[in-house]
Amino acid sequence: MAAPKILIIPGSLRSGSHNVKLAMAAAYEFAQADVDVTRISLGDFPLPIYDGDLQARSGVPKNAINLKRMMGSHHGVLIVTPEYNSSVPALVKNTIDWITRVQDSHETRGQVFREKPFAIAAASQSRLGGTRALAALRLILTACHAAVIPNQLALSFADDAYDDMDRLKNQVDIDALNGLVRQLIEVSQRML
Ligand SMILES: Cc1cc2nc3c(=O)[nH]c(=O)nc-3n(C[C@H](O)[C@H](O)[C@H](O)COP(=O)(O)O)c2cc1C
Repeated sequence: MAAPKILIIPGSLRSGSHNVKLAMAAAYEFAQADVDVTRISLGDFPLPIYDGDLQARSGVPKNAINLKRMMGSHHGVLIVTPEYNSSVPALVKNTIDWITRVQDSHETRGQVFREKPFAIAAASQSRLGGTRALAALRLILTACHAAVIPNQLALSFADDAYDDMDRLKNQVDIDALNGLVRQLIEVSQRML
């Protein structure tokens, strides 16, 4: 079966981000499974806060179009999000909002969400591990008609979850990440 291409989008720009570390750990697992994986930083795709007047005046920003096309060129997407005030950070929501405004000429709007599976993960210092951000993100992506795979990973106590090499320390977290990665590969292959 053909190997799918997976895109990983961390939802934090912070240096030392627990979510970027989790995205790196996931990228390693995908690579171990011989999957072609791309991990980006949203810092390379800066976007203004969504404003309908701005879109009417200047169109959708090039960075949103590029991000949407990058999503389109992959077979599965993993979003790794922090939890801010029990939900997703503005960075994640704003990025998704802009991407939903992109419509390439040969496509229906939102096609990029419908045609591939999404996986979601979160890392937080708290016991809940970003579970509420995951619920919010699942709702947003489902509203975009994305197929969000059932497995998800909420990494608790993220400030003590990694070793000196930024690898996950605890077997239970490693197993949960493996389960997520394996399921996204499987579903991506089925939807190829
Ligand atoms: C504005 C703000 C709100 C936050 N709200 C929550 C929250 O509701 N639940 C939680 O577990 N952590 C919360 N945190 C803590 C973040 O999970 C923590 O800063 C985390 O390290 C951010 O992810 P990062 O390390 O990938 O940047 C909040 C942090 C900020 C800055």
